Parts: sequence; structure tokens; C-alpha cells
Amino acid sequence: MIGGHGGNIYRLAQRLNCRPSEISDMSANVNPLGPMPALIDHLKASISAIAALPEVDAGGIVGAFSRFYGIDPRQVMAGNGTTELIYRIPRALGAKMALVVGPTYADYQDACTMNQVICDHLICREEDDFAPDMRAIRRVAAAADLVFLCNPNNPTGALAARPDIETLCRSLPGTVFVIDESYLPFAPKPADDTMIGSDLPNVMVLNSMSKAFRIPGLRIGFVKAPEPLMQALVPLALPWSVNSLAQTAVQWLMEHPEQVEPFLSSTRNSIEKEKGRIEECIHQKTDARCFPSATTFVLIRLPDGLNAETVWRHMADNRILIRDCTNFTGLSDRFIRISLKSEAENRRAADLLVQLCRDHADPGNRHAR
Ligand SMILES: Cc1ncc(COP(=O)(O)O)c(C=O)c1O
Repeated sequence: MIGGHGGNIYRLAQRLNCRPSEISDMSANVNPLGPMPALIDHLKASISAIAALPEVDAGGIVGAFSRFYGIDPRQVMAGNGTTELIYRIPRALGAKMALVVGPTYADYQDACTMNQVICDHLICREEDDFAPDMRAIRRVAAAADLVFLCNPNNPTGALAARPDIETLCRSLPGTVFVIDESYLPFAPKPADDTMIGSDLPNVMVLNSMSKAFRIPGLRIGFVKAPEPLMQALVPLALPWSVNSLAQTAVQWLMEHPEQVEPFLSSTRNSIEKEKGRIEECIHQKTDARCFPSATTFVLIRLPDGLNAETVWRHMADNRILIRDCTNFTGLSDRFIRISLKSEAENRRAADLLVQLCRDHADPGNRHAR
């Protein structure tokens, strides 16, 4: 659905009477080091591609993606972002009852609702740092024909290990599991944790180009699914849903591993460093709590009495857009999510949050300054 997402810098810019580019967008979970300059150069040089229709089924990039991951191209489909695929899956599978492992990205539920699929949530426990409890999922998922599991999860950052996911999926062969790996490239060892090479017959894997390469405006995502499940998706595919420049970008990315791998590796190093700094600062100076995250954003529980809207407004007044997590099923107005950006932006956001927490803990402080 259109509402409920982060990243609306346009509305905030209107409110603050500034340009969207003057806002530090810490609500959108995209690679702080991206996009790759070499990719931008390539896209500029390829701009004339927009004068022709793109390949109707994006077959060229399906091939390039399959070669990159060493998988059968018959098991791969491209979409206008993983969003298009998320909304297609419940309908294509004729699902009746879905389970969403939360708190998580709202579009899984929206996709089910839009396709008249009953949708239940299993909310992971805050006491467990929102780590998915595979036994609990197994119990509840037995009644579902479709399960959405985001790994690492948005907004908690929790990462489930591949063997645990495999055991879960094997234990319920009659249930289709959709594993959304949109944020996995940011995790320390994505190659160990990805399910993309899995040959389990009931597993679909979503892979987004938007986040890792910071090209959300191009709209490209993939699904890898065993052939029988893929055959259910194909009749609902839309012609030309991946535009010419998006196809050009994927071709370039898949054909330049010698540039892409170092880029992703320095992204991971930078994220680890920045995450460590911001978490330490918040932990040492406030009563807010950062949940352990395997990816490029951090979920924060605010200290008692301070709510997400207050923090959101304070940050917004300082031209920083963060994610108020109030509308995530399973969270509340006590949670915010901050997506990492440059060192300077992260430092500024952490300082503002620390100051707000201090002012809040000691209102006299606010007037003394
Ligand atoms: C978990 C998750 N999956 C999928 C998407 C959709 O991404 P895209 O359609 O750009 O691939 C998002 C967007 O924020 C997301 O957070």
C-alpha cells in the first residue's frame, strides 16, 4: 500500500521549506556509501536506452543474475522492486492463510489483505532481542500455507542463521516460506546466510537491488523460486515491469564483480564501525536501548516517557528524517529506527538523540541552556 513507509523526504521538505536534498534521510534503509560512482557513470552513458522498450520479461538480467548466483534461470523472475513480487506471491499461490513473522515490514500483510488472504502475525519477543523463535514459528506456521520471514528483519535487524531456517522449512513441507533477503548484503557474512542456493521445494527468496546498491529509484528486485512455484508466478507477470535503465544497471552490476564485491565489503566494514559508535554513544549516555542489528539500521527503544513522535519531530526540525515505528504491528510509540548514513550525519543524529533524552530526563536542563 502507498501509506506507512519511511523515506518521505518530499513532504518534510515542503514542511520545512527546504529542498529534499537538504534533508538527511535516516528513515530509508539504503547503502550509505552508494550508489557506486562507476554505476552512475555507466547509467549516464546509457541514457539513450530509454528511447526503446526494455526487454519485455527482463530475460537478459534474469540470465545475468542467475549466472552471478550460480542458479537455474528458470527459477528466477525480475520485478519492479521486490514490492511487485511481494504483492504477486499471495495471489499467485492461491494462499488462504498467511503468517507474518514480526514485528516486520508491513507490505507482507498488505499484500495478503489486498489478495483476500487471511494474515496472522507471530511477534518475536523483545526479551529475545526480537530473534525469531523457530519452534514457535513452526507451531503457528503449521496452520498457514504461506509464511513471510524477513532476514535480516526490518525494523529489528535480527538475523536468523541459515541452518535454522532450513530446519524450519524442511519441517513444514506443505507451507511455502518467502525469505526476504533485501538487507542481507549488509550482514557480516551474507554468503553463509543466504537461502538463494537452497533447493528446498517450498522456499522462495526475495533479493532487492534497492538497498545494497542504493538505487531504490530504479525499482529492481528478484525472486528465486523452485520451478513449480515459479510456474504459478509467471501468468501474473506484467510486461516491461523492469525499465530500460534498471535493466542496464543490473547488467553492469552482475558483470562487474571485481568492483561490486569490494564495494559491498567496504560497505559492511563501514556499517560495523558506525553502528558500533552510535550504539556505544547511545548506550553510555542515555537509557535508550539499541537492539543488536545485523544490518544497516538500528531499532531503538526510547527511555520511559519519551515517545517516538517527540523524537521524530525534534529530528525533523533539525532536517533529519528518522522512522517512527509506532505503526509496526508488534511495536509501539516507544520505538524508532535509524538508518546509518555518513559518519558526520550519524554523529549529529546520535548527539541530538542524547540531548533530547537528557532534556527529557531532567527538564530543568532544557531551560538552563
Ligand atoms: C524488508 C523489505 N522488503 C522489501 C522492500 C521493498 O524494496 P524494493 O521494492 O525497493 O525492492 C522493502 C522496502 O523498504 C523492505 O524494507
